[in-house]
Amino acid sequence: MTVMITGATSGIGKAMALAYLRAGHTVLACGRSEQKLSELANALQNEPQLENESDREAQGESGELVPLCFDLTQPESYPVLPRGVAKLDLLILNAGDCEYIDDALHFDAKRFERVIKINLIAIGYGLSAWLSRIRSGGRVVFISSSAQLLPLPRAEAYGASKAALTYLANSLAIDLAKEDIQVTCVHPGFVATPLTDRNTFAMPMLVSAEQAAAEIIRGIARGKREIHFPRGFIWIMRMLSWLPFTWWQKLALKMVNA
Ligand SMILES: NC(=O)c1ccc[n+]([C@@H]2O[C@H](COP(=O)([O-])OP(=O)(O)OC[C@H]3O[C@@H](n4cnc5c(N)ncnc54)[C@H](OP(=O)(O)O)[C@@H]3O)[C@@H](O)[C@H]2O)c1
Repeated sequence: MTVMITGATSGIGKAMALAYLRAGHTVLACGRSEQKLSELANALQNEPQLENESDREAQGESGELVPLCFDLTQPESYPVLPRGVAKLDLLILNAGDCEYIDDALHFDAKRFERVIKINLIAIGYGLSAWLSRIRSGGRVVFISSSAQLLPLPRAEAYGASKAALTYLANSLAIDLAKEDIQVTCVHPGFVATPLTDRNTFAMPMLVSAEQAAAEIIRGIARGKREIHFPRGFIWIMRMLSWLPFTWWQKLALKMVNA
């Protein structure tokens, strides 16, 4: 299988890239930094060999890594796909960033723009560049967030970008059905990555990037349209989203001021 992953140099994207490579697939790994892309290649080469020969045979050969270094927010920098790549089986639009709006009254439009640009506008550039390269029967996967379920304090930019991304994915799922291209939208809770390492608040039910990657890969293999995890966290977010808005507003303010 040929899999293209954006944001493959860190966190969830890197864990997915390594898992697909270990399973013998070709991975087109996108990232901004040459150094992080070579670290990805080294991470695979430096993995300990299984001791038992039959285990090694069962594991099989690692897949081919094709590093693609460019900035997703700069459409003119998008590379032409390498010659050997005829069609993509799987396109995973994972790259993203989170910046919080710390002072709502003095709204930071530049910060808002940066977040919307990588989490939403760049998705449009990616779709324009690669959607027609997905084979019939293939799949496009969007990494949205559970944040889109509920308005969260300071998440005006991040939450808005992910709510829009989920809408985009759902709308596209209708239009791409006739092209025989499937769409999966992923809503993770908190995952331990460089993105969340910056958070200074408690992150309940945090899972590792490897656990997140395994959930996503399992869901994709099962042909799921939506993937939500961890289950308990999503359940709480859903319950809270059913509260009358003023109740949730009071609760959210209490949480912020705690
Ligand atoms: N971590 C969580 O709790 C969580 C929860 C829900 C959803 N998500 C979503 O999951 C996705 C991956 O997040 P993560 O936590 O794994 O974050 P991460 O570790 O910070 O990785 C983000 C990836 O996106 C790439 N990227 C960012 N801006 C880019 C740009 N302008 N051009 C090209 N690549 C760019 C980064 O490349 P560089 O290394 O070159 O910067 C990096 O590979 C994001 O869409 C995020 O919103 C994360």
